[in-house]
Amino acid sequence: MKKYNVAVVGALGAVGQEMIKTLEQRNFPINRLKPLDIASNRGKEVTYKGEKVLVEVAEKGAFEDVDIALFSAGGDASLVLAPMAAAEKAVVIDNSSAWRMDPEVPLVVPEVNPEDLDSHKGIIANPNCSTIQMLVALKPIHDEYTIKRIVVSTYQAVSGTGQKAMDELDQQTRDYVSGKEMAISIYPHQISFNALPHIDVFMDNDYTKEEMKMVNETKKMLDDNIVVSATAVRVPVFRSHSESINIETEKEFDVENIKKLLKAAQGIKVVDDPATNTYPLAIDTVGKDDVYVGRIRKDYSIKNGLNMWVVADNLRKGAALNAVQIAETMIQRNLL
Ligand SMILES: NC(=O)c1ccc[n+]([C@@H]2O[C@H](COP(=O)([O-])OP(=O)(O)OC[C@H]3O[C@@H](n4cnc5c(N)ncnc54)[C@H](OP(=O)(O)O)[C@@H]3O)[C@@H](O)[C@H]2O)c1
Repeated sequence: MKKYNVAVVGALGAVGQEMIKTLEQRNFPINRLKPLDIASNRGKEVTYKGEKVLVEVAEKGAFEDVDIALFSAGGDASLVLAPMAAAEKAVVIDNSSAWRMDPEVPLVVPEVNPEDLDSHKGIIANPNCSTIQMLVALKPIHDEYTIKRIVVSTYQAVSGTGQKAMDELDQQTRDYVSGKEMAISIYPHQISFNALPHIDVFMDNDYTKEEMKMVNETKKMLDDNIVVSATAVRVPVFRSHSESINIETEKEFDVENIKKLLKAAQGIKVVDDPATNTYPLAIDTVGKDDVYVGRIRKDYSIKNGLNMWVVADNLRKGAALNAVQIAETMIQRNLL
């Protein structure tokens, strides 16, 4: 089997660390792992398969011996470094939002639209974490019953903002318990013991950029005819995003059949037994690969309406795992 030189750009970040762990756990065919990060982190190390690997600087020339570059260094870094890496003949799989809506760049969730990889031109985009788990859960339903409209509210973990936000939630909680004044730096308000209806920047239409990512990415990957209304909320959870999803379908459905479809689908675990208080919980999905779906029930307020609760580890299926699965799918499709 062919083995690849794989770079992880932003290797010291929350997603970069999870990428290295995911590559290791899935036994990805690696010849050489090349962790890259910003110049100020030069000389630091990451651990891969029990060995310390020196972190190098992500800069011109760093991708010449790289086959696959998994990027998670933020949008600004991707805008500069991804074309550089592609020019040096590495295939870029980018986690930031920098390239997602570029018509030349495939935006891919392997369970949803793997065929879009075939037309890649060197850069492939990994969708937003909230979109990924929503579309994994909705794809089997859309294929059978044609979704017309989605109304989604998210309950997103602080790890979606990165390691520094996880540290802030931890510190604010400690300060509260010990009666100290809390410092606020990452979010505009206290995140500990709070819920912020504000993720990413506000746009001219009064939605946030995160909310519009869910709208636009759904149209690009699943179906341009679907209308989406999203409210994205940051909650004091370290890891795993939860989503309340309401859909309206074209065709009439039977809820039991929806459960059957979801149970049979790749990458989904149905956890749904109200009688025993069983439903997906953020804390139970940390480090897990699947998208967990529960509270599946008819919405009696409209004709073909359905409600469900969808939970997944944002660092894993929402970021690192989806990127690694894109690379695996490219190998299967002889694109690498
Ligand atoms: N966390 C999630 O759930 C999630 C999900 C999907 C996508 N993403 C995306 O993935 C990216 C990374 O997120 P994260 O949560 O891992 O952030 P993070 O914890 O802040 O990590 C980013 C890493 O990249 C480094 N870096 C910054 N500028 C760089 C540059 N020019 N070249 C190389 N490395 C650079 C950072 O170094 P310093 O810290 O020293 O600056 C840090 O080590 C973001 O674009 C984010 O939107 C995140």
